[in-house]
Amino acid sequence: MAKLLRGFRDLFETEAQKLTKVERISRDIFKIYGVNELRLPTLELKEIFIKATGQTTDIVQKEMYAFEDGGGRLVAMRPEGTPGVARAYIENNFQANPVQKFFYIGNMFRAERPQAGRYREFEQIGVEYIGNASPAADAEVILMLKAIFDKLGVKNYKVKINSIGCKECRPKFREDLIKFFTLQKDSLCEKCQTRLEVNPLRVLDCKIDGPKFTQSAPKQVLCPSCQKHFDEVKKYLEGKVPFEVDPCLVRGLDYYTKTVFEFQADIAGAQNALAAGGRYDDLIASMGGPKVPAVGWALGAERVALASTFEEIKTKKVFVVSVEESSNSYAFNLLQDLRDNGFTAEGGLFDKNLKAQMKQANKIGADFAIIIGGNEVAKNTLLLKNLNSGKQKEIVYQDLFTALKEEK
Ligand code: HAM
Repeated sequence: MAKLLRGFRDLFETEAQKLTKVERISRDIFKIYGVNELRLPTLELKEIFIKATGQTTDIVQKEMYAFEDGGGRLVAMRPEGTPGVARAYIENNFQANPVQKFFYIGNMFRAERPQAGRYREFEQIGVEYIGNASPAADAEVILMLKAIFDKLGVKNYKVKINSIGCKECRPKFREDLIKFFTLQKDSLCEKCQTRLEVNPLRVLDCKIDGPKFTQSAPKQVLCPSCQKHFDEVKKYLEGKVPFEVDPCLVRGLDYYTKTVFEFQADIAGAQNALAAGGRYDDLIASMGGPKVPAVGWALGAERVALASTFEEIKTKKVFVVSVEESSNSYAFNLLQDLRDNGFTAEGGLFDKNLKAQMKQANKIGADFAIIIGGNEVAKNTLLLKNLNSGKQKEIVYQDLFTALKEEK
């Protein structure tokens, strides 16, 4: 029997509608903030992710859907959007206009262990603000994300921020962590024992080991320039969004410099990271492009949809019923007329009898049925039935739109 792949999902009705709503609200906010859309391919050369996302990350080490294509090229289904944006920026000479804000909406692929809120194909909505080194850019993208969360009615979310320094100050922190954790090696989980040499920062955000060492692990000492940057980000955010500085927030991708952040919320049994991002001032140059600073984030659309509490504004739904063959064209024209006038209208089930058409009207939750037979065609009238109250009345065609607007 045909079967769905593990970690992949079919989405319909409410879930699909919720995702569309998250996209729509995000687009509204992007417009206000002057962010332009970028549509990028799902498949890229694998080396782009190895270079950008990072050789030592979980994503590159074991989560990519990568394969050799027919032409012998090693390709990968994108596990995240940032490397593709950086590639496009370089390849399309976007630096001709050095300060740019992009957003993307698209599916990403990671072969992670499936859980509630963690899928192998999921949707990200992401923003990349390229060309602005000011801490004001970090604050702006964080506030943009907050605006989306608020408009979607996400409740009780936490904003965590941290600075993981730069090429100048991070190596010392890394060394301190290696020294510290080597002494504790036996009490580290299996994963962290291997992470220790390659990516000691990740031990800090390990769910098992992180909390054990939150207090005792060495703290990052930022260089004066990173410290100033971080202080200013906090100053810009102060009073605009409640946030928490979390020294253990290090993020699982290699390209970050300075500011990193995460928006978290508890959603029944599911993953709590709803969105995350940070600054990546060295990435574009490291991929062969110009030295341009950048900062961005991506939200997990499914997780954000789960945490959203917005109420869908219900539009009135009309169902057009034709009772006999001679009334079919009149009914069909009316159906189109309703749609042309902005009503949500369904019908056209003219091969079914009156009872079956009415049953379908109820099934789709229609508020009104408009019933038309030969009589109505002759008189240019129709029967308007309010399916919520059960009341019906005969009205002339010309009065229909006004009547629909007035009816409760
Ligand atoms: P990330 O933290 O790997 O960052 O992913 C961002 C968000 O995508 C997460 O917070 C989560 O909501 C969602 N997400 C990740 N994996 C899954 C999954 N398996 N199932 C469902 N949702 C998931 C990035 O991807 C960076 N590119 C963000 C960024 C943009 N940084 C700078 N610019």
